[in-house]
Amino acid sequence: MTSTSQSTALITGAGRGLGLALARSLLSSGWRVVVDARRTAHLETALPGASVVPGDVTDPAHRDALAAAVGGLGRLDLLVNNASDLGPSPLPRLADTPLAAARRVYETNVLAPLALTQALLPLLRDSHGTVLNISSDAAVEAYEGWGTYGSSKAALDQLTAVLAAEEPGLAAYAVDPGDMRTEMHQAAFPGEDISDRPEPEAVVPALLRLIATRPPAGRVRAADLAGASS
Ligand SMILES: NC(=O)c1ccc[n+]([C@@H]2O[C@H](COP(=O)([O-])OP(=O)(O)OC[C@H]3O[C@@H](n4cnc5c(N)ncnc54)[C@H](OP(=O)(O)O)[C@@H]3O)[C@@H](O)[C@H]2O)c1
Repeated sequence: MTSTSQSTALITGAGRGLGLALARSLLSSGWRVVVDARRTAHLETALPGASVVPGDVTDPAHRDALAAAVGGLGRLDLLVNNASDLGPSPLPRLADTPLAAARRVYETNVLAPLALTQALLPLLRDSHGTVLNISSDAAVEAYEGWGTYGSSKAALDQLTAVLAAEEPGLAAYAVDPGDMRTEMHQAAFPGEDISDRPEPEAVVPALLRLIATRPPAGRVRAADLAGASS
């Protein structure tokens, strides 16, 4: 079924981890979901019913393809900028960070979300939609080795805050999901046992609550939403 009255989301980086968990949850609630990732062959079975657009968010032609897929559905209620680049693993100190790697992190974590937001603003304005930019505690804490990734997430937080000021009809949030047992987290802690970290599925209820309740825009921690009554 396709209908312009059906709630519609675009989630970047939904091949695994948090993006996949959120996409699954929204699909099961009747949303139409457009997703991307660079590796998507498994998504036909992992995410039945989703519109899958394979590609890299740093590629302008791929972003055009995402915007076209969403445009073809006629509405957008939710944009989730979730795809992210951690940088080299193990995480290098700033003194040793290759600038090419830093550039790649900023292209993925800052410029791609900005570009997608720009491309999709008309549809988001029409629906008084929600933008979730997935951030990190590394945006506000000075962890050694996390300088490039953390500063990219700090920039994403500030883009989100200014977007909220400029577009009061939207609900815009920078969301710190907290630690999750994912490939990115394992890359950040190579060789460590991360089995005590929660699965990304555990964060999804907090994101759904945020989307449903639309509190004042800003930076939010999923952990602070988890216990809130909806
Ligand atoms: N895991 C944590 O503990 C943690 C903590 C704080 C914040 N976060 C944030 O939470 C979000 C989700 O992280 P996660 O742990 O779920 O990550 P993840 O398991 O590594 O999954 C990331 C997803 O994004 C896709 N992706 C990566 N780069 C992409 C690109 N350039 N273009 C398109 N797709 C791309 C990946 O697929 P391909 O590689 O196939 O493209 C994958 O599907 C990220 O924004 C991350 O910064 C995570």
